[in-house]
Amino acid sequence: MKQLLTRLEQASGLDRISDPIQRALRAVLKPRLLRDTLHGVQLGHPVHPALASFTLGSWTSAAVLDVIPRQELPATTLVGVGVAGAVPTALAGLNDWAELDHEQRRVGLVHMAANVVTLGLYSASLAARLRGDHRTGRILGFAAFGVVNVSAFLGGHLAYKQGAQVNQAVAQLHRISDGWHPVADISALPHGVPVARSIGEVPVLVYRDGDRVSVLLERCGHETGPLSEGRVVDVDGDTCVECPWHGSVFRLNDGLVMHGPAGSDQPVLRTRIVNDVVEANLP
Ligand code: FES
Repeated sequence: MKQLLTRLEQASGLDRISDPIQRALRAVLKPRLLRDTLHGVQLGHPVHPALASFTLGSWTSAAVLDVIPRQELPATTLVGVGVAGAVPTALAGLNDWAELDHEQRRVGLVHMAANVVTLGLYSASLAARLRGDHRTGRILGFAAFGVVNVSAFLGGHLAYKQGAQVNQAVAQLHRISDGWHPVADISALPHGVPVARSIGEVPVLVYRDGDRVSVLLERCGHETGPLSEGRVVDVDGDTCVECPWHGSVFRLNDGLVMHGPAGSDQPVLRTRIVNDVVEANLP
């Protein structure tokens, strides 16, 4: 299985399919508010996994009810709830997928294809149940349940093995020991320009605005882009940094994510100035 997944990650031939789909998605999902909502920016948490749990939970419950006698009505209802939930789940997943790297997108493409088959089978199952043919509905439902579990396995691989839409910054935070760490001499910091420094081996971004200094983790929580190389931008009166890789925007004074594809805030360290030296500590 491990070898199969590695081969899938390296199947560059799939890029001939995934690249045009990515371009089309980026063209369709143009409005930033829509993209941010689907990434989970307003929630500060990725939306796709939560919606997927709801959808898969409905279908799992339907599969259980399908083996219990005289549960046709609740089973049909749950299949329908899952089909309805699959639409926003797919939209959020597609929106996340369009911002992944090549290897992640190859696995995501097969995940996506399995979900299309799943949705087709569950829709046919629902149609059969609604016309009273529960036997056919159950058979189609079990087939769909098998496919969706393969798809869920691939989704887990994407998140846990390939780190897709996982907050990449948190692990770095755990590499900083508790206590105050010197980061920079205040006099050496330019005004209004992010600079890269480090605490031990962990790179941090330091931003000075007058007497106020912010220290954020340097590696973007989306895919570890170097934030100090990004532009400083104004978003609704807040000073923010835009990641140079995929354009996530974080507020500099508290790391709040303002625009995706990052779905989580960027970790910010506490700061103090002692004898003109900026020091940082864990949040
Ligand atoms: S690495 Fe993707 S937005 Fe920063």
